[in-house]
Amino acid sequence: MPARFRKFDHKPRVIVTRRLPQPVETRMAELFDVTLNLDDHPFTRAELAAAMAEAEVLAPTVTDVIDGELIRGAGPQLKLIANFGVGVDHIDLKAARERDITVTNTPGVLTDDTADMVMTLILAVTRRIFVGERLIREGRWTGWSPTGMLGHRIAGRRLGIVGMGRIGQAVAARARAFGLAIHYHNRHRLPKAVEAPLEATWWPTLDAMLERVDIVSLNCPETPETHHIINDARLRLMPRHAFLINVARGTLIDEAALVACLERRGIAGAALDVFEHEPRIHPRLLELPNVVLLPHMGSATYEARQEMGEKVITNIRVFADGHRPPDQVLDLY
Ligand code: DGY
Repeated sequence: MPARFRKFDHKPRVIVTRRLPQPVETRMAELFDVTLNLDDHPFTRAELAAAMAEAEVLAPTVTDVIDGELIRGAGPQLKLIANFGVGVDHIDLKAARERDITVTNTPGVLTDDTADMVMTLILAVTRRIFVGERLIREGRWTGWSPTGMLGHRIAGRRLGIVGMGRIGQAVAARARAFGLAIHYHNRHRLPKAVEAPLEATWWPTLDAMLERVDIVSLNCPETPETHHIINDARLRLMPRHAFLINVARGTLIDEAALVACLERRGIAGAALDVFEHEPRIHPRLLELPNVVLLPHMGSATYEARQEMGEKVITNIRVFADGHRPPDQVLDLY
């Protein structure tokens, strides 16, 4: 057993970087020697460095960029980074491995809520939900008309899912019920037993799929291979009537290229829950009528956030008990 899975003989010293659901914080206070972030301000780099100099366990979120320099500067007592969230692209996994720091995340418990958000965005952008909502709120609605507020039917369209892991498959199951045909691009083809009920078509190359689908949903993690996976060249492959949906990570898309594409009506629209430079939004995106913009809320249900917190607690407890935590992230990229 590697040295890092060693039983603690005391309550682990845990620093949590953001406010977590109250029951989660209360349980952490019972179990651990914990410092909570009661005013919920995002940690500065200096605060993160200070926390990593003191904590045995850091419980960060996507708003904390934990790069190699911070990890190399961490105190020798830091043994576990127990991330609150499934995506770990904000943590330098290689640097963590080199320092023998274990990293965990919270997979599974946010799959359904995130997949629901993909369907919400598909419908919102194709049926122009927020355009209609604004019309009413701004007092500009003059009543029903046969040609008013027209959008596009999604049944019968082709959905291309980029990344067919847990969330991609949950999106596919929902989309089937809406009458969409499922296409996907993934490094590896899924087993027939998974493909068959979804009637899913695998595309070994992303470019070929992009040319043929009507809606593209990004559901892969951010890695060096997927960074800017949607760039200018790929946007130019998409049909002019296509829509792009992203609930995964903003950095999967070259946002400047997307803005230019939307401005020249290279695709019909985009629905984005995540952005390249969060929380900053490209100013020209705000001007575009054919986009839906949401503030990174794919997993934002009370239920998911509570269960994510419970996973963080379990990972810390199992680790402090001297065992491999259930959601250890391996540096496979
Ligand atoms: C996730 O779990 O990755 C969400 O995007 C929040 O970090």
